[in-house]
Amino acid sequence: MPERGRGSVGTGLVEQRHNLPGQLSRFVDRDRELTGLRRLVLEQRLLTLVGTGGVGKTRLALRLAEAVRRQFPSGVWLVDLSLLQEPEMVARTIAQTLGIVEQGQADALDQLVAELGSQRVLVILDNCKNLVDAVAPLGERLLRSCPHLTLIATSRERLGVGGELVWRVEPMEVPASERRYDAEELAGIGAVELFLDRARRSSPEFTVDSENVQLVSELVRRLEGLPLGIELAAAWCGVLSPADLSDRLSNRFRILTSRDRTMPSRHRSLRAAIDSSYDFLRPEERFLFRRLGMFVGGWNLESMEAVCGLQPGEGFEPLARLVDRSLAAMQPSTAVPTRYRMLGSLREYAVEKLSEAGELDSARSAFCAYFLHLAETAQLHIYEPAGARWLSVLDAERDNWRSALEFAVVEDPGAAIRLAAALTPYWDFRGFYAEGRFRLSICVAAVAEPSRPLAQSLRGLGLMAWAQGDHPYATRQVRRALAVANRLGDAAAAALALQQLAQIRFAAGDLTTARARLDRAIELARNAASQDALGLCLFRLGLIEMAEGRWQEAEELLRESIRLGRAADDSERVAVGSTYLGRVYLETNRLEQADATLRESMRLWRPHGSPRQIARILESMAAVAAERGENVHAAWLAGATLGLLERAGVKVAPPIDRDMDSRVERALSAPGTSRPFAAGRLADIGAAMRYAMGEEEKQAPTAETAKPPSPFGAGLTKRQLAVARLVAQGLTNREIASRLYISDRTAEGHVEQVRNKLGFSSRAQVAAWAAQHLPPL
Ligand SMILES: Nc1ncnc2c1ncn2[C@@H]1O[C@H](COP(=O)(O)OP(=O)(O)OP(=O)(O)O)[C@@H](O)[C@H]1O
Ligand SMILES: [Mg+2]
Repeated sequence: MPERGRGSVGTGLVEQRHNLPGQLSRFVDRDRELTGLRRLVLEQRLLTLVGTGGVGKTRLALRLAEAVRRQFPSGVWLVDLSLLQEPEMVARTIAQTLGIVEQGQADALDQLVAELGSQRVLVILDNCKNLVDAVAPLGERLLRSCPHLTLIATSRERLGVGGELVWRVEPMEVPASERRYDAEELAGIGAVELFLDRARRSSPEFTVDSENVQLVSELVRRLEGLPLGIELAAAWCGVLSPADLSDRLSNRFRILTSRDRTMPSRHRSLRAAIDSSYDFLRPEERFLFRRLGMFVGGWNLESMEAVCGLQPGEGFEPLARLVDRSLAAMQPSTAVPTRYRMLGSLREYAVEKLSEAGELDSARSAFCAYFLHLAETAQLHIYEPAGARWLSVLDAERDNWRSALEFAVVEDPGAAIRLAAALTPYWDFRGFYAEGRFRLSICVAAVAEPSRPLAQSLRGLGLMAWAQGDHPYATRQVRRALAVANRLGDAAAAALALQQLAQIRFAAGDLTTARARLDRAIELARNAASQDALGLCLFRLGLIEMAEGRWQEAEELLRESIRLGRAADDSERVAVGSTYLGRVYLETNRLEQADATLRESMRLWRPHGSPRQIARILESMAAVAAERGENVHAAWLAGATLGLLERAGVKVAPPIDRDMDSRVERALSAPGTSRPFAAGRLADIGAAMRYAMGEEEKQAPTAETAKPPSPFGAGLTKRQLAVARLVAQGLTNREIASRLYISDRTAEGHVEQVRNKLGFSSRAQVAAWAAQHLPPL
């Protein structure tokens, strides 16, 4: 496995401060609930919205979150838990959603606690129903440790956590049975309003008038005010009159009542609504609907056609009819291709129907086969110049491939191991090492037969553990990979395993063993005529030569590895090789070549946006600038390097980095460099790359124009946060000193450090930042 190491995270949701999805349909009614909930959510720490399926819990939680967004300056996050099966993944999923970068082997929950700290954040845990046992203790710990965190949970039952406020979401208001309404009055009742709004989507002329007023009134009563049922029924208004609709519903309801007397009435109503919608579909639409139930994470036309066994273009019309009938929905987003989704209650129903129709197994295999194919295609192209696109594809399909992996581990371990192996580069690029390790370890435990994907997965597992700093475990896994490769007689796979063992020894500073392993790996790679393995081994040997100061040997090896990378269209190989070759040029005083090579490397890396690699290039660019006496430029680049590494949680310093800082440090001691350094430190990865490539007009962004840091990772200590708050209250240094029982000088020092860390030049900027980002105490 190439040097695809740590901290390569690119999602960066933290910058956006919320991930609330847009809505395509109108929100109706619920004013009374919202008035109460708005107050409660600011007073309570844990609010659980409890209610039956389809009653509108999620929609209400989202509306509430929108309404109070401003009171949570550090962010509002929706975490969908409905798709999770494994309790182990709950904390990790929350952290991933918040864009929190993994730190070594740190426990996800500990890390969440540390990152959330005293930020004022609102997190919605949507649909806890499968995982109440895991969510409850997690919620308790988060609330205890993060004083300004508020949680909203939606669930069919309470979580049972101390301090939980349970809010029962009732169905919408329905017309009273004993009263007769006129049309206008009726249209003002919540459930009717929703019915009319949705009915007009399929039949724009639809209104309540004296003719149908009684029927509409009965219909929404029959649906017991459940928004999902109402939406489903209303979607047929272009085709059926309210009288027909009402008849169908009553029929279905009767059937359900006679079949299952224990089913609660509301459940029965919703079920009747879904049943009637389903009954009305044509056979090919029903088939499609059932199969679409497989997609826990939504679908696009391509994945739909593949999983449902349709010819290109064949599925569009039936899909459009499902959308018209509210049985599926387009996801509001500008993303291409368009994605569609099914609400949880409908998906559960679809899967039930799949099972009744005896199609569950075939649907599952088709689903797994598609995502296996997708992941293997991604793996094949991810290192190519345009490969970064595949990272986004796998991001969008995350819930689906997770689900495919879970099925496959049980049903078809051979497919599971291939899928896990194919996903390894994704986990690596994104820095999702804990998830990668968790899933790879389950998959490798599920197969006994030696195979190439097994060897690859074991190396992947070793890579994840290595990136987390767990070298002994990593070594054991890679040794197993080597044993598998040997049993298969696969010299290329053995070479890859050996070079990985060398990588681990190298990181530990044991250059002798690393070199011995590489010598053997190179021999094997040559025997197997594997250019891929050879390129990687030569690169790694180049690093050892560099570490030992043998620049000429290093140069030759790196050049050869770059050449092999070019021949294979592996832009990562070329990019990584160029990063270090640039460094060799720098060390041997060929500054022009160093500059050109580093820029080439940056150009190649750019689309993948991997902070660790970009930081390494910036670091060398800073040294080139320092050598040239361009101190301000060097300072900005050094600041940017540090900022990226800090935010990506990278702590590695391989042996070759020992003298790196001396040149840059000299530059930093020159006058006028502290501000550009601070400004660079705030730059996000995009700004840093633009600046380094000279696209920002060679003019370093100043602290004033740089984006203010996210409160996560602004890196202020507790004391510094306290000082920042007091600055925001307009206190002088002396006043701050007396408030915190410290000397004037110490207070002054703190203010200075806060300004430097935030990259600001004035107190006023600190005050503005603190007022915006820090909750009042
Ligand atoms: N107040 C409302 N205004 C408009 N539409 C609503 C409203 N409440 C719910 N809906 C719609 O009704 C459907 C079901 O609502 P929602 O998904 O929020 O239910 P839920 O209680 O979360 O269900 P589940 O238990 O299955 O998760 C959705 O299509 C939603 O958009
Ligand atoms: Mg819901």
